[in-house]
Amino acid sequence: MSVAPRTDGVLVDRYGRVARDLRVSLTDKCNLRCTYCMPAEGLPWLAGPELLTDAEIVRLVRLAVERLGVTEVRFTGGEPLIRAGLVDIVASVAAVEPRPRISLTTNGIGLDRLAPALRTAGLDRVNVSLDTLDPARFTQLTRRPRLDAVLAGLAGAAAAGLNPVKINSVLMRGVNEDEAPALLRFAVDHGYQLRIIEQMPLDAQHGWDRSTMVTAEEILAALRTQFDLSPDPTERGAAPAETWLVDGGPARVGVIASVTRPFCGDCDRTRLTADGQVRACLFATEESDLRAALRGGADDEELARRWRTAMWGKRAGHGIDDPTFLQPARPMSAIGG
Ligand code: GTP
Ligand code: 5AD
Ligand code: SF4
Repeated sequence: MSVAPRTDGVLVDRYGRVARDLRVSLTDKCNLRCTYCMPAEGLPWLAGPELLTDAEIVRLVRLAVERLGVTEVRFTGGEPLIRAGLVDIVASVAAVEPRPRISLTTNGIGLDRLAPALRTAGLDRVNVSLDTLDPARFTQLTRRPRLDAVLAGLAGAAAAGLNPVKINSVLMRGVNEDEAPALLRFAVDHGYQLRIIEQMPLDAQHGWDRSTMVTAEEILAALRTQFDLSPDPTERGAAPAETWLVDGGPARVGVIASVTRPFCGDCDRTRLTADGQVRACLFATEESDLRAALRGGADDEELARRWRTAMWGKRAGHGIDDPTFLQPARPMSAIGG
């Protein structure tokens, strides 16, 4: 183990992990109010001047690619589709050399309308959050009657040539825990790739309880009542999802087991919040303020140096099982998952 951060090159941490995958939150706002994410009344949103401008975002992404070795850029929220400049931001990032792969994590509302322009701008693929296929349950869970809009968004993404189209489903006890097989049937029938996610302690209400969380083991057992799951021969790399072939393939299903099967040892993530803070980990309790440096006149190399220093301080893992674990102050909706 080396004893000091490298002063040039990639985003390495003291455990030797290299961050190649940048997740950029474009807004903390959302047009849904999922019970596990936000209170009904919403949250105190970031004020306009606090948000990075489109040009500031593009500058930081460019330097991450050009100077820090980032190869994957994912836009998240809140809900990234409600950011007015999204298509232009994607186009500018697609013009950076070497061109990073570009993806989006969205709730899907409005994606039917926006997918063609996003595809043309350079978006490669999309992950859509969908926890239930039951309209009444959807309305209860998200506090908005928008299931049809999400389904239209999924179809529009596939029709526009975004590939793969993945679905993210968080399973919750007593809410949608019985829906894993139905969600997989729906995904397989439509050519989407389902990933079922263990709920993490990131809810705004701090109501998460490990003892009631639906585990990967339970998820797999539920899926196996209706499907044959066999090991996926493709390399997992740093992906949060462990995948299986469904009924012999080519369809796949993923399980993201951050809690019971943590993958922090292989983590390749760095995060930028909508207000310009670098987060070394989803669960980081410290952030590094690139916005202040940028607006104070720092040049690209100074910004790159600050980013490297922030990542050097990344902890070994999320520590959810540690008795001293503290949920981050910034809510999930403002981190972007
Ligand atoms: P792919 O590149 O398509 O595999 O996307 P992804 O799974 O990395 O990202 P996505 O935004 O679709 O997130 C799916 C789930 O994984 C969400 O619950 C995220 O919060 C979670 N997730 C994403 N990145 C990390 C991470 O670095 N650590 C942990 N613990 N969870 C993560
Ligand atoms: N645990 C796990 N995943 C979560 N997501 C939101 N909150 C949580 C949580 N507490 C998921 C959303 C979305 C992605 C960005 O993160 O469903 O798909
Ligand atoms: Fe990486 Fe932190 Fe996620 Fe673990 S919890 S995989 S260290 S971002």
